[in-house]
Amino acid sequence: MKGIIFGNGYMGNRMFNYFKEQEGFDFKLSDLRVDSYHQNELDNLLREELDNLQDREEPYFVINAIGKTHGPGVPSIDWCEDNMKETWGSNVTAVCLLANACGIQNPNPYLVHLSSGCIYYGNNFTEEDKPNFVGEQFYADTKRVAEEALLTYYKDKSLILRIRMPIDDHPNERNLIDKLKEYDNVIDKPNSMTVIPDALPVIKKLIEEEETGIYNLVNPGIISAAVIMKMYRDIVNPNHEFSIMSLDELNKITTSKRSNCTLNTDKLKSKGIFMPDIIDSVERCLYKYKRHIYH
Ligand SMILES: NC(=O)c1ccc[n+]([C@@H]2O[C@H](COP(=O)([O-])OP(=O)(O)OC[C@H]3O[C@@H](n4cnc5c(N)ncnc54)[C@H](OP(=O)(O)O)[C@@H]3O)[C@@H](O)[C@H]2O)c1
Repeated sequence: MKGIIFGNGYMGNRMFNYFKEQEGFDFKLSDLRVDSYHQNELDNLLREELDNLQDREEPYFVINAIGKTHGPGVPSIDWCEDNMKETWGSNVTAVCLLANACGIQNPNPYLVHLSSGCIYYGNNFTEEDKPNFVGEQFYADTKRVAEEALLTYYKDKSLILRIRMPIDDHPNERNLIDKLKEYDNVIDKPNSMTVIPDALPVIKKLIEEEETGIYNLVNPGIISAAVIMKMYRDIVNPNHEFSIMSLDELNKITTSKRSNCTLNTDKLKSKGIFMPDIIDSVERCLYKYKRHIYH
């Protein structure tokens, strides 16, 4: 399987390093800025990659891990509220430019797009449900619009993966564990979340099967920030202190409202894909995380 990953950040590198180790996968990581200024460069790059395929019937994958989720000095999506031009450019325009570039190639590559479950507020949303967290948060709005754009223009060859609050088994500033441990106060609202070491083999399987459409790429079950921090205190750092705050208190200190939601995982299960339960998986992550920080 050949492909190219755009977005040289946390998820782009996580996927690149994972696929590097997988037999039969040859995925590159591109540094190209995907903006209208570079559209010709992008078109030519994809054409060259497709020309290099030994067999024109072989599928080719473009993976979009580009995005603005935070920015200098503001490690949260609140940055997007004050930097709408940049956020729109990365979260919407870049997706459309990638779809443009894919659309003019022959054969058309698959476009795997990292979306987010934060387009919902409430419980048990399936892939078919219409987003209902609308006009409350600019980041969520851009992720919804990008999905709509792909489903309108490049539906037949797009795979849209909705991830939420990525949790990883080693320290990284984008890992939810690292973010939460910096907060004095966290909320206790159950949510769906994505454990990245569980999600990577699922991405591999969906790619191998040339799946298209939307998938809720979250672990089954629910967990809250407060539960994660209690587990962190039990497993990693017994001296860690934090308090629980209400959603109203959180809303007072953030610029934009936060999405709290749970996503239905039946579609993945119906494909024979079973991610581990979120509580068990977070526990395993924390034990590995502890080994990383103490060795
Ligand atoms: N992390 C999360 O909590 C989360 C949750 C759900 C979904 N997602 C989605 O997953 C995707 C990847 O997020 P991430 O966590 O890996 O974020 P990240 O670490 O900030 O990586 C995003 C990368 O995209 C790059 N980028 C931005 N605009 C670009 C452009 N026009 N052309 C090329 N590269 C560009 C950024 O570079 P610069 O910083 O130099 O601009 C950065 O390297 C995003 O679409 C995000 O919405 C993330």
